[in-house]
Amino acid sequence: MYDFRPAPGASKPDSYADLLAAADGLTAGERDTVANMANVAALLWEFLPDVNWTGFYRVVGGELVLGPFAGRPACIRIAFGSGVCGGAAAQAKTQLVPDVHAFPGHIACDALTLSELVVPVLRDGKVVAVIDLDSPMHGRFDQEDAKGIEALAKLLADRI
Ligand code: SME
Repeated sequence: MYDFRPAPGASKPDSYADLLAAADGLTAGERDTVANMANVAALLWEFLPDVNWTGFYRVVGGELVLGPFAGRPACIRIAFGSGVCGGAAAQAKTQLVPDVHAFPGHIACDALTLSELVVPVLRDGKVVAVIDLDSPMHGRFDQEDAKGIEALAKLLADRI
């Protein structure tokens, strides 16, 4: 049985160190990319408080296509440059959005979402996927979350 949760009272950096160790344990030695993304999406869902969507979009044929996730069914295809995910993919840069309604072009898959963090996964300098986290709270994600998820993206670069 797996039970991954942050230690009560742990700082954000410590929690992300635990999250990274758990993600490493779940994906090390497994070559199936769908299995790895599925387990990490579920891990993020379990581990992070106040999120309503955690998952992956993969770069397929020059656009983003929905990958394994936890949460409500979501938009399937997103063009590079479109919305928060497409922006992260086009710029190969983390997008930290405290208020999605103030983000021009935000794609509302779930009306409950108020803030969002999207981190690109790069392999050999190319974006191969993005990790998308949504929250029903304004300003849920900060620089420490961005750093933690960027470290996760690095870990997963060769595993998804
Ligand atoms: N809001 C995202 C779309 C993906 S869903 O949040 C799962 C965006 O603007 O790219």
